[in-house]
Amino acid sequence: MDLKQFVEEHRDKIQEENITNITKHKIEYIINYVDNWTYINENNPTCSIINFIDCMCNAGIYNDCTLSTGMRVLQIFVSHAKTHPKKQYNLFLNDISADRIEVIKELSKIINSNNLKNIHIFFECLDVNKYLVNISKYQSYFAFGSCSILFVDPYNFGDVNVNLLREFADKYYCELIFNYFSSDYKRNRKNASASEKIKKMKESMKGIDGYSIELNDDDVLKLIQNHLKKSKLKFTFAYQFRTKTNVPLYTIIYASRHPKGLEEIKESFWKIFEGSPFYRNEEKSKQDIETEQISLFDDRQMNEEYYCEEAKKLTLEHFNNQEVSYKEICIFLLENSMLRKGQVLRGVIKPLIAEELICKLNLNGERNFTEDKFYIRNVVDEKKL
Ligand SMILES: C[S@@+](CC[C@H](N)C(=O)[O-])C[C@H]1O[C@@H](n2cnc3c(N)ncnc32)[C@H](O)[C@@H]1O
Repeated sequence: MDLKQFVEEHRDKIQEENITNITKHKIEYIINYVDNWTYINENNPTCSIINFIDCMCNAGIYNDCTLSTGMRVLQIFVSHAKTHPKKQYNLFLNDISADRIEVIKELSKIINSNNLKNIHIFFECLDVNKYLVNISKYQSYFAFGSCSILFVDPYNFGDVNVNLLREFADKYYCELIFNYFSSDYKRNRKNASASEKIKKMKESMKGIDGYSIELNDDDVLKLIQNHLKKSKLKFTFAYQFRTKTNVPLYTIIYASRHPKGLEEIKESFWKIFEGSPFYRNEEKSKQDIETEQISLFDDRQMNEEYYCEEAKKLTLEHFNNQEVSYKEICIFLLENSMLRKGQVLRGVIKPLIAEELICKLNLNGERNFTEDKFYIRNVVDEKKL
């Protein structure tokens, strides 16, 4: 497929602005996760239908030939569907722009050129909130035996009714990836000349207990995460993207019903961002790229060491004077620190045992850590003495 020619032929209908490094990294992060998620689900005998829903999918391609998330997911589906003919792969694509939907329709035919029988693509051209309501017409695809990702990726804050995301997640077994555009919220919430925008932002938070325009962008992030946790999506992780000048732009909120999802998103985060506490947009010089291997290795190690120290303190404080399982410590740290699962035992639990700050109870023998419980010392009271 000649993507350059495709872009030339559709230039008037695709996004005019060049794609940024931020968008490229956002796509890589999500795609890495989707790839692993697809693999896990197709090896799960109870899952027969795999759905990816991109509520704001864009034209499928950017003007430098980078494929959008939806089209990268289609490529994954094509490669998996051939070897798993009994599984069904569905891609739901929506965008408010009719031009963009026309382009992505054409591109989908090229990417799925063999028109595989177990891949279905459903296109719509609706406002995102209407789409989220209307999507119930496809509910047979979201029934028991299906696994879905709902991806909602606006250009700004206020377009998406956040409560509709929660409603979808309560009805159907799914994971959610939502782009919370904090910079837009921050810029507009106190802007006297943006009354229409403020009205829209308030509308989009309707039904979320405790929301008021007085809340700052960080508080709104926490509120959205807590609101989602009131649904069946019990596990969340948020990752921030910043501009070249280090200003927070948006945060990708991930939410899942299952701790395994949380484990997997952390794997993707370490794979793509090397443990960096946020992604900062940067245009790299040739020299930077040549020395990248070495510097990334150092960063990764430094990040890990720092996070482990931080996680040790968090664990002691949070579980002070309690008996907790490995699983409980793990979930707590996956959500509240940057660590991934493999780092918890090695970097937190074992060093705390060595420092005699926690005690392993050996319920399943001395060598078994993952099915054991731990007593966390009462360090809070000890400090007061
Ligand atoms: C950030 S882009 C999406 C990028 C895409 N998800 C990707 O990963 O490459 C936002 C898209 O939302 C669409 N859009 C804007 N307002 C919308 C609305 N109210 N409802 C649905 N789509 C909307 C735009 O046309 C644009 O294509």
